[in-house]
Amino acid sequence: MTAILYILELFNIKSFLLFLSIFLLVFDYIKTKPPKNFPPGPWSLPFIGDVHHIDITKIHLQFVKFAEKYGRIFSVRFFGPRMVVLNGHKLVREMYVHRGENFADRPSLPLFADIVGDKGVVVSNGYPWKQQRRFALHTLRNFGLGKRSLEPSILQECRYLNEAIANEQGKSFDPQFIINNAVSNIICVLVFGDRFEYTDDDFQSLLKNINEVFYLEGGIWAQLYNVFPWIMRRVPGPHRKIFSIWNGVIAFVKKKIEDHQVDFDPSNSRDYIDCFLGEMAKWKDDEASGFNVENLCYCTLDLFIAGTETTSTTLYWGLLYMIKYPEIQRKVQEEIDRVVGSSRQPSVADRENMPYTDAVIHETQRCGNILPLNLARQTTKDTQVDDFIIPKGTMVLGSLTSVLFDETEWETPHTFNPGHFLDGEGKFRKREAFLPFSIGKRVCLGEQLARMELFLFFTSLLQRFSFSAPQGVEPSLVFRMGATHCPQPYQLCAVPR
Ligand code: HEM
Repeated sequence: MTAILYILELFNIKSFLLFLSIFLLVFDYIKTKPPKNFPPGPWSLPFIGDVHHIDITKIHLQFVKFAEKYGRIFSVRFFGPRMVVLNGHKLVREMYVHRGENFADRPSLPLFADIVGDKGVVVSNGYPWKQQRRFALHTLRNFGLGKRSLEPSILQECRYLNEAIANEQGKSFDPQFIINNAVSNIICVLVFGDRFEYTDDDFQSLLKNINEVFYLEGGIWAQLYNVFPWIMRRVPGPHRKIFSIWNGVIAFVKKKIEDHQVDFDPSNSRDYIDCFLGEMAKWKDDEASGFNVENLCYCTLDLFIAGTETTSTTLYWGLLYMIKYPEIQRKVQEEIDRVVGSSRQPSVADRENMPYTDAVIHETQRCGNILPLNLARQTTKDTQVDDFIIPKGTMVLGSLTSVLFDETEWETPHTFNPGHFLDGEGKFRKREAFLPFSIGKRVCLGEQLARMELFLFFTSLLQRFSFSAPQGVEPSLVFRMGATHCPQPYQLCAVPR
């Protein structure tokens, strides 16, 4: 009798498990079944989607292969719903510019939603995003962005950076965090009104943490969090570190805001935080605009982070290319010596007389490709692309790798070739497919600032130093993929000229 009961029980458990598996499979199929005329993509497995096709450490390169196979618009799925990838300069421009309104939103990803909610500039949408983007651009312009008035403070920072590098006395060192600190100081002056000494251990450790969190956010744990947030919120793992780092950075920004509130003087706005505090009074009857202290924290955080990591990673690539291609470095230095000389610092006005240097900086941005898949967008309405329909609310990536290495646009897409930006007479030529800052309604808000910083830091460094790889070391262009595409840590020697 007990044996029969046991068999029945076993049978029930078995049938229950069978039923559950079939139910989950059907549920997954219905939930993730692409709608009619959805862009094609690889054959996905239940639950995991296309994860088995993808090596997350070089996802941008695998997307290039998918584009070769499925065409300029394809879809992929990682555990969750399908997302659409747009490829090639023509398509990304056409969609993001001519159909800009359709692609103006950002998706809500659980990881970021749990850190910043829908606040700030980068992940917000609709009315509050419009107000905050407009206000940030306006305020940064007032503090000299895109004008000559910001130049002296960048040049001052270039002097500090040169001094710190001279202190290395030609010995090999990794320039990553010192560059990071110098670049960060520019946005810090604009938003906090302060710069930080390179010897400030607290600030250095904050920058190292930010660098680490960027790396972790590109990893599998962050992706798992976005798909299974309800589980991941409850289990330990490396994703916990993402939260603890962000909590530290947010606490740092909050402290800066509190300090500003103590000695706030509406008649003397020193920086972005002061301007925002002043603006809050004007918008007190319009809650939706986001002019409140909580949102101030996340907007400041966005500017601080976006203004630090991107430009410094580009410069880090720039120095790597210079030690990899010493003949290109020599040509840049010849141009600096001819146009600027050695008795004064370079200035933005010199750029138009320095086509070769300008071309090298552009080529660094193209090949450095620091945001290879761009930041994600989301469709605001059903959108037809070629023969396909992207339904409203779909996550979309306008792949920048596919634009910056578009074989129909660039003569030698896979070679570091400043000639891409020079005409037959050696004059600088603009290229439409040069879109490292993306394009359209969400185009990078800091483009002008970044371009100014890149030119001044790069020329100041090459004016003062010759960079080379440590003896016997062949510089490697192998990348490390996190939230940004950056070089593997490397060492160089900086010999004063
Ligand atoms: C070399 C440096 C930089 C690169 C390559 C870069 C690139 C980008 C890209 C690709 C986007 C996404 C645009 C899109 O969704 O289409 C973006 C957005 C953004 N960037 Fe930059 N960026 C750089 C520097 C900066 C700096 C210095 C700031 C600081 C002011 C900044 C602030 C932002 C902000 C706030 C957004 C979000 C804009 C929005 O959602 O409306 N970036 N950036």
